[in-house]
Amino acid sequence: MGVNEQVSKPLDRLSGLLAADMGAVDALIRTRMESRHAPRIPEVTAHLVGAGGKRLRPLLTIAAARLLGYQGTHHHLLAATVEFIHTATLLHDDVVDESSQRRGRPTANLLWDNKSSVLVGDYLFARSFQLMTETGSMRVMDILASAAATIAEGEVLQLTAAQDLATDEDIYLQVVRGKTAALFSAATEVGGVVAGGTDAQVRALFDYGDALGVAFQIVDDVLDYSGSTETIGKNVGDDFRERKLTLPVIKAVAQADADERAFWERTIEKGQQQPGDLDRALAILARHGSIQAARDDALGWAGRARAALADLPGGELRDLMGELADFVVARVA
Ligand code: IPE
Ligand code: IPE
Ligand code: MG
Ligand code: MG
Repeated sequence: MGVNEQVSKPLDRLSGLLAADMGAVDALIRTRMESRHAPRIPEVTAHLVGAGGKRLRPLLTIAAARLLGYQGTHHHLLAATVEFIHTATLLHDDVVDESSQRRGRPTANLLWDNKSSVLVGDYLFARSFQLMTETGSMRVMDILASAAATIAEGEVLQLTAAQDLATDEDIYLQVVRGKTAALFSAATEVGGVVAGGTDAQVRALFDYGDALGVAFQIVDDVLDYSGSTETIGKNVGDDFRERKLTLPVIKAVAQADADERAFWERTIEKGQQQPGDLDRALAILARHGSIQAARDDALGWAGRARAALADLPGGELRDLMGELADFVVARVA
């Protein structure tokens, strides 16, 4: 069994256990990404959705609702909402990051243009609002609308923290909580709310999603240096090129000697990058064990995610949600 197979198992098992729900969510996603009035929309959305994606966030919503014994169908609407918000942010993010690969395919901004990515992203955001209103619940609308605002804040905070070597782990955590964990925690929280969970249960689900999201993004940032383009479906070294202060770099900068400091100032602050610089950055990260240290932090967050599940109903579903936390840290794709 390959490494990939091993670590993706909990995700596959959870998807398998919730296959009927996920099928309904997929059908909803496919119908609602259509547009009869602007052909560019289905072109772009079909390109992105056709490439797959892990569907991790909608799976979290479904899992949370089912964990609390939900028997209705509103969790499908909420799961589709969450995936639409996610997909909209990806379209916008690839414009902002000037990325050329996503889900193993050329990005929409590369295949079409920035204008199409921004506008189709807007369309998906608007469609997500329509989907969530169909639940008729002001409480879930508040949670999801707030998450969308928090994601945008995280992305904007990252913009101003990039290229600044003074960015520390606290600021990094603020960025990650905003741009990534906010949607994970909203995904699990709305699942709990729609199922009519107690305040304590909803809080526990929020905490699980929050910690899982932080762990997920730390690992994503680790993979940006240590992964392979083939498995992650995105270009390795994008964050370095974009001069982002992600956790591995923040840790290495904190331990830099004068030579290394000069290297980070030139490449990250001044943006004067030359061929070979990414390899030099990787050597510096290796020298200080920064990749491993970041992975260890992610492991800590995964532990927090697991711990948050303690008082929720036990059984196969909860066990798999716990294992999912380990998958998020062990993943290579
Ligand atoms: C990508 O998320 C954006 C981040 C928060 C790092 P995923 O890795 O979940 O994206 P897909 O949907 O599986 O492509
Ligand atoms: C994730 O940020 C995008 C959002 C959560 C909006 P990144 O820029 O770090 O993620 P990738 O590497 O492009 O997927
Ligand atoms: Mg990006
Ligand atoms: Mg980004």
